[in-house]
Amino acid sequence: MKLIKLPAEERIIFPLDVSSSEEATLWVERLNPFIGVFKIGLELFISEGPQIIEKIRNKTNKKIFLDLKLNDIPNTVSKAVRVISNMGVDWVSVHLLAGSLALRKALELAYNNLKIIGITILTSLDRADLLELGFNAELAKDLKELVLRLAFLAYQTGCEGIVCSAKEVEKVKENFPELITIVPGIRLSEERRDDQLRTATPYEAILLGADYLVIGRPIKEASFPEKVCEEIIVQIKRALEEREDD
Ligand code: C5P
Repeated sequence: MKLIKLPAEERIIFPLDVSSSEEATLWVERLNPFIGVFKIGLELFISEGPQIIEKIRNKTNKKIFLDLKLNDIPNTVSKAVRVISNMGVDWVSVHLLAGSLALRKALELAYNNLKIIGITILTSLDRADLLELGFNAELAKDLKELVLRLAFLAYQTGCEGIVCSAKEVEKVKENFPELITIVPGIRLSEERRDDQLRTATPYEAILLGADYLVIGRPIKEASFPEKVCEEIIVQIKRALEEREDD
């Protein structure tokens, strides 16, 4: 398996899932040594507006991922991406279900080295949800197949990477080794899942081929978040050592 080379510490993406810039900057200051990418999601972006990006940028030189999960018609998505290109972030997310034209146009209008990350199927969804949404039984039965189709779309259109669950990452990496794989739904033990349905430990996810891990609540809600980060890094290192060509 061809995997990107990256030290363990740079593989953790911490979602700044808070609503104020004060809280967000405190987390950045506190976790900066352990984290490779800070993710700004809808809650923080909507409550604080685009100025939040500069505030975070002033506190860290790590990557910033603007995770807005854009999903709209090609004209709207691509023009949003053009505006975002000027905001000083490294990655922005677009739903692959927005379709190939939206992705192509978004890539055309992206500049300042802004990279696009494609969202496949949310890790909070399972087979029953997909059936309810009207996906045919064959596709819904095997999420891997569906995610693989979306990964192909990401690869074909020139996205930098995709977000998928640990359950699909091995197949994605096998087929599209150039795509960066970002895996959320990470839990340190099997008992805690919150609203995530397709979960894995950091060790399992990295072993399966994840390049980056999104880890929020297991760090944020811990009594000693720094200790949890250290534990995650140990797990990542152990998995990297076991991966064939790392
Ligand atoms: O680790 P935790 O469950 O708290 O992580 C939640 C974060 O993961 C949220 O910021 C959410 O947007 C993100 N996420 C994602 N893609 C998914 C599922 C969750 O980026 N498919």
